[in-house]
Amino acid sequence: MTNENLPEGGRALVDAWVNAVAWNSIAAQQPPGAGPPQAAVPEVIEWTCWPGHGPGSAFLGALTGRRVAELGCGTGEHTAYAAACGARLAIGVDVAGARLQQARARFGVLPAVVWKTGDAAEVLAALPRLDVCFSIYGALWYSDPAHLLPVIHSRLKPGGILAFTVNAPCPGELPGRRVDNLTLSTGARLPVVHYSYDADTWQRLIATAGMSTQEVVTVDDPAGGDYRALVIRAQRPAESRK
Ligand SMILES: C[S@@+](CC[C@H](N)C(=O)[O-])C[C@H]1O[C@@H](n2cnc3c(N)ncnc32)[C@H](O)[C@@H]1O
Repeated sequence: MTNENLPEGGRALVDAWVNAVAWNSIAAQQPPGAGPPQAAVPEVIEWTCWPGHGPGSAFLGALTGRRVAELGCGTGEHTAYAAACGARLAIGVDVAGARLQQARARFGVLPAVVWKTGDAAEVLAALPRLDVCFSIYGALWYSDPAHLLPVIHSRLKPGGILAFTVNAPCPGELPGRRVDNLTLSTGARLPVVHYSYDADTWQRLIATAGMSTQEVVTVDDPAGGDYRALVIRAQRPAESRK
């Protein structure tokens, strides 16, 4: 049986495992304690990998007193940002435990911050209801949105916000599931799985999961390369009850 033929939940676990191996290996290049003991919390959210390009921090909406989860938080900067903005609970979720060890070492002392290791869909299912879910080139980029979006819908409170960044397919690339490589500092290459769709397809996926798209900000590579980031905000309808 190929990976493509696995049942949806099985493929999600395979994807999560492949990505955990890659990102734990990235983390192992800088063991906990190698960097500064406590990092500064960023003052703004950078939604794209091009600082200063993309919507501002306000794209996430109000955070004070809210329950917030970041899906694929990596080393935790943006989860820490949410906590520093007054979130009642800021949960950083990442499938790579070694990345979360780094997050803990950098930001673990902040009140209201909790770190959870595991695949975003699995972890989310056991979380309290959330006001805000967000992801910056995180779980919505690295796991199947047809699997993850319905779980996000089920954990968001009515009226809750989902905001995330992904890349659109590059020119000539087919949409959907792709296997690329992460290159370690040794030159070794490790597979990673990600999912890329254009803005219309994202809006369809979001609608199928019971949410509505509020805004899609398109940011093209300022250096003129092929990459195009999509920064998307969606909402669970205020009146939905499940
Ligand atoms: C490109 S990094 C982005 C990290 C962070 N959002 C940032 O902006 O710096 C992607 C992160 O997503 C995590 N990830 C990948 N698949 C995931 C999944 N299924 N569930 C949770 N985290 C996942 C990886 O381990 C990695 O830390």
